[in-house]
Amino acid sequence: MKKGLFITFEGPEGSGKSTQSKLLFGFLKKLGFEIYHTREPGGTAIGEKIRKLLLDISNSNMAQETELLLYLAARRQLIEERIKPELKKGRIVICDRFQDATMAYQGYGLGMDKKLIRFLGALVTDAVIPDITILLDIRTEKGIKRAKRDDRIEKRSLEFHRRVRRGYLELARKEPSRIRVIPVSGGISKTQNLIRKVALNGIKRSNISGSRPKAS
Ligand code: TMP
Repeated sequence: MKKGLFITFEGPEGSGKSTQSKLLFGFLKKLGFEIYHTREPGGTAIGEKIRKLLLDISNSNMAQETELLLYLAARRQLIEERIKPELKKGRIVICDRFQDATMAYQGYGLGMDKKLIRFLGALVTDAVIPDITILLDIRTEKGIKRAKRDDRIEKRSLEFHRRVRRGYLELARKEPSRIRVIPVSGGISKTQNLIRKVALNGIKRSNISGSRPKAS
């Protein structure tokens, strides 16, 4: 079966994930790779509706379990509609956030049962695991200052966001070959260069078929 390469971007608020993932997308596309970019929660019509529900500050009474299940529901839809078909075609898929975000935010941040999150995660991801996860790391206070939105999750306490960051770093310690921590302190282009190195190494190790870089 043809198999592409699945790259996810993770990080606490204000880490510059979407800027960096879009830059990587543009870079790899220019090299001639067939590549698909998406985000979580969202990326499908259903997922974008779920995203609105999740981020809406007027939903302040949302139960933790409702929140968890909505993130997972959006993920399931994205996997079925987009991620699996794109990977099957042998493409590179870049996704802003994935299952690690649920572990970091709902597991470490909210303190929900991590075993349950792992179990439900396995159910919805259906063995789709990122080949490479870029974890952009930033000090919590700095990240919160840089974050532009003021949504239901971002508005949570500094202590919540500290737990999220610690959670991400712990996940990276557990899976160092998949989750690569990249500090964002060096600025946008320096960070992007580090990301490109990690991505190109991953591509070299993979056997992406049908995606060949044009001679540069
Ligand atoms: P974004 O900042 O990447 O657009 O993500 C939207 C928010 O949703 C962000 O605050 C992180 C949060 N989130 C979770 O809490 N759990 C999840 O599983 C995912 C994917 C995102």
